[in-house]
Amino acid sequence: MGKIIDGKLISRDTREKIAERRAALYEKTGKVPGLAVVIVGDDPASKVYVRNKKKGCEEVGFYSEVHEMPADTTMEELTEKILSIVSRDEINGILVQLPLPSHLDERRVIDIIPPEKDVDAFHPVNTGKIMIGNYCFLPCTPAGVMKMLEYEGIDVTGKECVVVGRSNIVGKPMAMLLLQANGTVTVCHSRTRNLPEVTRRADILVSAVGRPKFITADMVKEGAVVIDVGMNRDESGKLCGDVDFDNVIEKASAITPVPGGVGVMTITMLLENTLRAAEAQWKCGK
Ligand code: GUN
Repeated sequence: MGKIIDGKLISRDTREKIAERRAALYEKTGKVPGLAVVIVGDDPASKVYVRNKKKGCEEVGFYSEVHEMPADTTMEELTEKILSIVSRDEINGILVQLPLPSHLDERRVIDIIPPEKDVDAFHPVNTGKIMIGNYCFLPCTPAGVMKMLEYEGIDVTGKECVVVGRSNIVGKPMAMLLLQANGTVTVCHSRTRNLPEVTRRADILVSAVGRPKFITADMVKEGAVVIDVGMNRDESGKLCGDVDFDNVIEKASAITPVPGGVGVMTITMLLENTLRAAEAQWKCGK
């Protein structure tokens, strides 16, 4: 039976270090890092994420503000709002919670955010920097996964890494980070032929598909590390990941649970990005 990788514990440790760095920064500058979150409409899942981001800021002593806008907000109104927020010096980082209502163009919205305040690392300048390995911010979910592997002493070098899912937010940047850590990386998606054959090659298997119990025990090699990025609801409405946890844990050497795995790390890495943004803007980072 595999070890359960405790995202809450790793997150607590990481947040303690962030709070220490925040205190050192305050000592030097008399200022605290500030994060602004913009949410458009009333998607219940997005509201929960935003509330947790605000709570995370409070926990490490950051300033934060949430801007709630109605579902019928126009592109012009949203643009104006973002530009007015990012012009303020006390706001070091901003994010617009996704998904946006369908009449708004997500790509255009992301393009408006200045790259140095883009703590999601979704702006094309930041995604390009990740590609060439010269980055300030890493996208929060893949960065959280890398932090968990590092914390658990799992060396990626030379390992067969299989990422299932090719989204811009998770799958693609995840593949880049594993590649930079010297893994041999395969990215699978809905058109991949013989998916179980590919996933069974993985020493490190990352699933970011968004379907409950998608990764079954027969798709996993004995002794693999299994990272579950999924955040789904099962038939009874309970939160669950992509992985058939109860059966896969019997084969894996280590596995992340849902909840209590990658999800909490994502917010922790957002806090780390906000701190890095403040350090860079106040020119007192490492
Ligand atoms: N929606 C789901 N995940 C994310 C995220 O990491 N950032 C933003 N802005 N929206 C999201």
